[in-house]
Amino acid sequence: MPSELATVILAAGKGTRLKSDFAKVLHQAAGLPLVAHVVRAVTALGRARAGALTWVVVGHQADLVRHVVEGLGARTVLQRPQLGTGHAVAQALRALPRSVRRLLVLPGDAPLIRTETLRALLALHQQSGNAATILSARLPDPAGYGRIVRSESGSVEGIVEQKQLQPEQRGLLEVNSGMYCFERATLAALLGRLGRDNPHREYYLTDLIALIRGQGGAVGACLAPDPDEILGVNTRAELARVDALLGRRKAEALMAAGVTLYQPETLAIDADVSVGVDTVVERGVELRGATRIGRRCRIGAFSILENAVLGDDVIIRPHTLVFNSRVAAGASVGPFAHLRDAADIRQRARIGNYVEVKKSVVGENTKAQHLTYLGDATVGRDTNIGAGTITCNYDGVNKNPTSIGDYVFVGSGTELVAPVRVGSGAYIAAGSTVTENVPPDALAIARSRQLNKAGWARTRRQKLAAAKALKDEPPMGVRLANARHRPAKRPRKAALRRRRK
Ligand code: UD1
Ligand code: CA
Repeated sequence: MPSELATVILAAGKGTRLKSDFAKVLHQAAGLPLVAHVVRAVTALGRARAGALTWVVVGHQADLVRHVVEGLGARTVLQRPQLGTGHAVAQALRALPRSVRRLLVLPGDAPLIRTETLRALLALHQQSGNAATILSARLPDPAGYGRIVRSESGSVEGIVEQKQLQPEQRGLLEVNSGMYCFERATLAALLGRLGRDNPHREYYLTDLIALIRGQGGAVGACLAPDPDEILGVNTRAELARVDALLGRRKAEALMAAGVTLYQPETLAIDADVSVGVDTVVERGVELRGATRIGRRCRIGAFSILENAVLGDDVIIRPHTLVFNSRVAAGASVGPFAHLRDAADIRQRARIGNYVEVKKSVVGENTKAQHLTYLGDATVGRDTNIGAGTITCNYDGVNKNPTSIGDYVFVGSGTELVAPVRVGSGAYIAAGSTVTENVPPDALAIARSRQLNKAGWARTRRQKLAAAKALKDEPPMGVRLANARHRPAKRPRKAALRRRRK
C-alpha cells in the first residue's frame, strides 16, 4: 500500500514566455522556487515517507532544479530533449518502481496548490475507479489554459489546448489545471500513442484524455474549490500575481494565529517565516527566508528581516535591516540600524540608530545607541558603547577581533584598532584611538593633550576682516571716477569700524 502511489512533478521545461535565462520552476514566489512549493504540498500528503516517492522530471538547468528538489527529499528523472508534457510523464514512468500502481501528475509551475485539494482529487479518483481524474477549475479568464470538453451528458471527453480551440469551444470556461491522477496501466498502454500534431510539435499529455475515452475508459474531473489554487506561471505578470496570492495567504494565516498585521497588503512575508502571538508588524515590512519571530515583538515600519531569529518582546524600530542574525528577548534594535551578518544581540541589549553590527556578540543589557560600527567584536554585558565608536577590524588584509569585557564604558568617538582587548570594568576616554590592550578597571586615554591659546580666534577674525576690506576696495581709477558722485565718507565702512571696537 505505501508504495502504490507516486507523484510526478513536471519541471523540465524552459518557460520560454518568461524570457529568462533561468528555468521557470526556479523563479521564486514568496521566497521559494516555484517547484519547491509544489514538492512541499505533496510531501504534506504524508503518504510518501520523506517524499521518497515524489519524482521530479528535470531537463532545463537540470542540476539546479535537482539541487532544489533533492534538498526537499524528492528524486529526479532526466527528460532530454523536452518534447512535451506527455513525453515528460513517459520518462518518469520508466524510472518508477514496479510497485507504483497510480500516479499523481502535477506541473512544477503552479505553486498555490493545497495539500487538501490534492487529497480530495486522490479520494475521488480512488472511489470512482476512473482511469484518469483531472483537477479542473472555473476561471473568470481561462486564457492560456487547456479547456475541458464535456459531452451533453456531462462526461469528460477530452482537453483542448487554447491554440486548438474550435470557434464553438471558445466559450468553455472549465480549464485543465494540469493536475491529474492516472492509473499506471492506462499510461503504460496509451502514452506511446500520443502524436505531435499541434503547433508546438510536442507530445501533449492532455491528448491522452481523448485516447482513454476512445478505448471506453472512464475519465472524471473534480472542480478545485478555490480556482486560484491552480494558477500556473507562464509569464512575469503571472509570477507577480502568484507571489501576491501566496503573500496574502501567508498574511491571513498569521493573523488567524494571533499576529497583528497593519496593512497586510503592504507586507512581503515568505512562506517559511514564523511569527509569535501578539507580535505587531507595521506597514511595509519584509520578512524573508527562515525568519523566526517570538511573541509580543514589534517590527517597525519598512524594516527588512532575512533569516533573522528574534526572541520574545523584541522591538525592531522602523527602517532597520536584520540579516542572518539573532536578537534575544527584550532587546531593541533601530531605527535605521543594520545587523549585517552573524550579529548576536543578547537579552535586553539596545542597538540604536545608525549602528552597524557584523559578526559580533553584544552582551546582555549592553547599549550601542548611536552611530557605531561593531565588526568581529565580542562585547560583554552591561557595557556602554558611546556614540560614534568604531571597531577598526580590517587592516587591509585581515579581519581582526576586538574583545570588550563586562561593565565597560567606551567614551564617544572611540576607535578600537583591532586586534585589541578591553578588560571588564575599564573606562575609555572619549575620542581615544585605542591601539593597546586596556587592563580591567583601568582608564585609557589615547588622544593628544588639549592646548588652549587665549584670544587666538579673535585675532584671526580681525586679520580675515582686514584682508577682506582690502579686497573690496575698488581699484584707484574707479575710485577717482566715482568720487564726484559719492559722498567722501563711506558710511558702510565706518559702521563696520565702529562695530569692531
Ligand atoms: C499545460 C497543459 C494545459 C493546462 C496548463 C495548466 C499541456 C499540453 N497543457 O499547459 O492544458 O491548462 O498546463 O497550467 O500539458 N514540462 C516538462 N517537459 C516538457 C514540457 C513541459 O517537464 O517537455 C513541464 C514544465 O516545466 C511545466 C509543466 O510541464 O512545469 C507544464 O508545462 P507548460 O509548458 O507550462 O504547459 P502549459 O502551456 O501551461
Ligand atoms: Ca504552465
